[in-house]
Amino acid sequence: METIAPVKDPGFDSEEAKKRKKYMVDLFVVQAKNYDLHDDIYGFYAHRFWVRTMVKIVERFMKGKKRADMLDMGCGTGFVTYNVARKMPNIDIDSFDLSPDMIKVAKQRYDKGFKGRKIKFWVADAEVPFGDRKYDIVTTSFAYRNFANKHLATKNVFNALKPGGIFIIQDLTKPERHPMKGLYAFYMKFILPIFARILGTEKSAAGWLKKSTDMMPTNAQIQKILEANGMVNCYHKSLSGGIACIIVGFKPGA
Ligand SMILES: C[S@@+](CC[C@H](N)C(=O)[O-])C[C@H]1O[C@@H](n2cnc3c(N)ncnc32)[C@H](O)[C@@H]1O
Repeated sequence: METIAPVKDPGFDSEEAKKRKKYMVDLFVVQAKNYDLHDDIYGFYAHRFWVRTMVKIVERFMKGKKRADMLDMGCGTGFVTYNVARKMPNIDIDSFDLSPDMIKVAKQRYDKGFKGRKIKFWVADAEVPFGDRKYDIVTTSFAYRNFANKHLATKNVFNALKPGGIFIIQDLTKPERHPMKGLYAFYMKFILPIFARILGTEKSAAGWLKKSTDMMPTNAQIQKILEANGMVNCYHKSLSGGIACIIVGFKPGA
């Protein structure tokens, strides 16, 4: 049987975690306003396809349910929040992010097209507890790899879920197999810096995108984190040849 190396976290009070969080907040002071446009260009619109997989999992989970409470953790400008809200009017959504600037943009989007919907945004850290048995669904999209303490964030999700609730992670991963492995290396080395220069992206952002993706644990390692924190019926799958992943787990019960 394949052994899966456990993921070691630096700890909530570690310098590494503090530095990572400060970097996130500082990065999006500059990037928040253009984040959605840059995301489309950098990823050739791929995240718009990937999010459909996430939304389909939510739709499947909702079968036979009248309504649900959802949390979008590390919501950024509300990409997943609004994709789910558009499709499912019977889901009320809480969304938080570490970056006040991302939350500001997310709130502006609410005013433009979602008034009247029960959608709330606030600034918070995924590593600090955010509720007890409050949510049927917790999503996190392209944020999990940024969390310094993945066990802590996952434990908080477990506590915040109602029994029977679902946790869905969507993120970038480093492809392990050709041809995507070669294409990924080419893209990171040659294409990404060109986009960054043309778009005037904050200088370190492209470097962090590569570093955080390279540092992202494997799907199996993340599934282990979910299982170590009490989740059951977990599964994972790679998207687009291993550039992205979906990892799912459930809180036992109901
Ligand atoms: C690449 S963006 C993704 C945003 C959005 N979920 C999406 O799919 O477009 C990553 C987000 O994770 C947030 N983030 C990073 N660390 C966090 C933490 N510890 N707690 C909450 N949010 C965090 C960042 O502020 C940023 O908005």
